[in-house]
Amino acid sequence: MLAIIGGSGLTQLSNMADVRREVARTPYGEPSGALTFGRMCDEPVVFLARHGYGHTIPPHLVNYRANIWALKQAKVKGIISVASVGSIRDDMPPGTLLVPKQIIDYTWGRPSTFFEGGDSKVRHVDFTHPYDAALRQRLLAAAAAAGDTAFDGGVYAATQGPRLETAAEIDRFERDGAEVVGMTGMPEAALARELDIPYAALNVVVNYAAGRSSSQNGIEFGDIEAVLQEAMVRVRSILECLCHG
Ligand code: HPA
Repeated sequence: MLAIIGGSGLTQLSNMADVRREVARTPYGEPSGALTFGRMCDEPVVFLARHGYGHTIPPHLVNYRANIWALKQAKVKGIISVASVGSIRDDMPPGTLLVPKQIIDYTWGRPSTFFEGGDSKVRHVDFTHPYDAALRQRLLAAAAAAGDTAFDGGVYAATQGPRLETAAEIDRFERDGAEVVGMTGMPEAALARELDIPYAALNVVVNYAAGRSSSQNGIEFGDIEAVLQEAMVRVRSILECLCHG
């Protein structure tokens, strides 16, 4: 069974059938909401709204550990993360979909590991390639099957939020090699790796990053909402095709 974690603009999957909600308990507290089990194209899936079903949990307060632990308990075989991002690249305008390949983590102060020492052994996971190669390919194939295009690659900068970045911060991220920026990619991806759950992301560019292109003088929130709504229709079609894979 695949899990889908939905971000801003994707708080439910309207194309799910036989829906059943289950409240999960974990040693790390409560996940962002009940797990929504159901079927998409006759395949079992479980959906979780990262920011809560009423979009009330900001990126830095998401209980990433509880979310990933709950999905492990549900025995998922893979996690698809849907998340909106800002684009640092001129040639990735709002509306671009991408399946990122790498991550740079600028977040701080978030509980970011299941391996805290104490009674359990200290463990270090390999994270050279943070996203699962096979799941990435499935996502790209699903985008093609849906008649859409998702860019293959991209370096995702995970920022703390909830504020957006300064123009100088975006310049720094670019010098570091980042191409898109978002607030929720970490520690989610690392926690999935710690529990050996294949993880891949579908990013939706909803704005140019601070100081870039049309965001030269600031980010227009009104524009973001429109792009998000339109893009999520495409994301839903891609996710449906994913279940055929
Ligand atoms: N910065 C950080 N996170 C984001 C952005 C951004 O510009 N757009 C959507 N999520």
